[in-house]
Amino acid sequence: MAVSDTDLIEAARDALADAHVPYSEYRVGAALRTADGTVYTGCNIENANYSNTLHAEEVALAEAVKNGHREFDRLAVASGVRDGVTPCGMCRQSLAEFADDDLPVVCDEGDGETSEYTLGELLPNTISEGTLDDARSP
Ligand code: THU
Ligand code: ZN
Repeated sequence: MAVSDTDLIEAARDALADAHVPYSEYRVGAALRTADGTVYTGCNIENANYSNTLHAEEVALAEAVKNGHREFDRLAVASGVRDGVTPCGMCRQSLAEFADDDLPVVCDEGDGETSEYTLGELLPNTISEGTLDDARSP
């Protein structure tokens, strides 16, 4: 069954419940829809060694890629405080490895409101495979 845009932000909100956030107490949920309509969700998973923390978006992306998906259609992100969370710079770059600049990224603003960006707006200059061309030997 196709997952509507409304259902996708709801899936991101639902994913908040699984967040492991004993340190920040800031829950993040993400829902990533693939080109064939499959949805993968993720939540942030913190660690006592803070830098080991997994972000919701990278958990969703990893799950999708692990299951053979390389093309993405839409990402929804929500936070527990409904404060207009957006993917951090690291997650933007991770998404750009697979998604085009025009990937819609919809962010929960609370009170039923959302803001929509494209990945290209959020990260206009990505590091891509082409960026590395000059460094590689022929
Ligand atoms: N967080 C995410 O899950 N995604 C982002 O892109 C922004 C930050 C999480 C990491 C940490 O658990 C908490 O939010 C506070 O930074
Ligand atoms: Zn992130």
